Amino acid sequence: MKYYIKTFGCQMNFNDSERIRGILQSMGYEPAESWEKADLILINTCTIREKPDQKVYSHLGEYKKIKEKNPKALIGVCGCLAQRMGQELVQKAPMVDIMFSSFNMHRLPELIQQAQGGYKAIALLENPPEDEDKLWEYPTVKDNQFCAYVTVMKGCDKNCTYCVVPKTRGRQRSRSLESILSEVKALVEDGVKEIHLLGQNVTAWGQDLGIPFEELLYQVASIEGVERIRFTTGHPKDLTENIARAMGQITQVCEHLHLPVQAGSSRILKLMDRGYTKEEYFEKIDMLKHYVKGITFSTDIIVGFPTETEEDFEQTLDVLKRVRFEQVFSFKYSPRPDTPAYFMEGQATDEVKTQRMTRLLNIQKEILSEIAKAYKNTEQEVLIEGFEKGKLVGRTRTNRWVNLEGDESLLGKIVKVRVIESKPFSMEGELLEILA
Ligand code: SAH
Ligand code: SF4
Ligand code: F3S
Repeated sequence: MKYYIKTFGCQMNFNDSERIRGILQSMGYEPAESWEKADLILINTCTIREKPDQKVYSHLGEYKKIKEKNPKALIGVCGCLAQRMGQELVQKAPMVDIMFSSFNMHRLPELIQQAQGGYKAIALLENPPEDEDKLWEYPTVKDNQFCAYVTVMKGCDKNCTYCVVPKTRGRQRSRSLESILSEVKALVEDGVKEIHLLGQNVTAWGQDLGIPFEELLYQVASIEGVERIRFTTGHPKDLTENIARAMGQITQVCEHLHLPVQAGSSRILKLMDRGYTKEEYFEKIDMLKHYVKGITFSTDIIVGFPTETEEDFEQTLDVLKRVRFEQVFSFKYSPRPDTPAYFMEGQATDEVKTQRMTRLLNIQKEILSEIAKAYKNTEQEVLIEGFEKGKLVGRTRTNRWVNLEGDESLLGKIVKVRVIESKPFSMEGELLEILA
């Protein structure tokens, strides 16, 4: 039996798919080369904006053709859109045989059995079930041998007024320290060098366990073989001085942080219920720079939030110019049903959103080309992750891609390179030394 998984959305959704692969492979399923050759097609969905919703429906339209060739083939939908839409999705898409969410991935074996028996296996729950930790008993199946995601918490207790995640993923639940550390140990024994801790609001990990997040960083770092640590997504409000200090002290924590600002205007931030002002965001950036020498940042921005004026938007541009992010993920505000911002007055037109987005991208392009120039002739530590177009590729500690000449013997090695060419999205390096 063969499976095919199509994943949309964030890194947590990708890690969920890696776990689902583990579940399926433990049942004897093997990966299919393409969806046409699969006995089970799963779409792990995202519903953060309207666009990902539409993509799911168009993929379902395509995948339903499988049933003409292979009438026993099953189609499943899981993830955030499944959780948000519930039964309504099955009505819209009658070809769906299996449906579940991130709450009950561990029940997939039962659901497949039910669907094979000719029943619709629709299992959507209001809240996460008591046995959801069973999920961690399954391994993940990953494509990247050297860098691994480790989900450390589920859900989110913030209430950003534009966001569906608290509804689709439920309340914040921290995974136990013991469970996290045992997965990290298993991963490094398998050859993983870089551990990327994941949570929608990862810096809040431990609040429900009475353990501060920095303790998790120290514990992960103490495991022999962990060469690099990253974590995503940190929320500015939960990023304490103790966390910043730990990031500076722990040599494995990389000098890069994704710290979504969302908007520059404090008035808009308040309407978004982000819990910080523009000035407070700058204070966090300065604190991080103080403790973590050479740290670089990336961010998420929403343009065209309800009531955003020209002046408000200028504030967002000001944040870009002052922080000089190495990467900016910008999104047009997309009204999501049942979120507070959906009902706000002053919704922007698509024209305004597009125009602001273009201006933002142009400014960021300039900033990025200056940043890229500054990398030229510097020495960087790179973890070699694989090959691309005949060249080795890896990332610097500051999260930039580097290509260099070399052979397989360098895979999984941390090397020192000199940057000989630097473009906005990639750099060329020459090997100086193998470090680890
Ligand atoms: N937990 C993370 C982000 C999760 S969603 C955090 O708090 O930063 C990823 C990004 O999608 C968000 O940072 C935000 O920029 C964007 N996003 C979320 N809801 C959105 C919406 N309704 N419209 C447009 N962008 C949205
Ligand atoms: Fe959504 Fe805000 Fe939670 Fe991020 S912190 S997942 S944007 S509610
Ligand atoms: Fe999308 Fe769900 Fe992630 S809505 S961004 S897949 S948490």
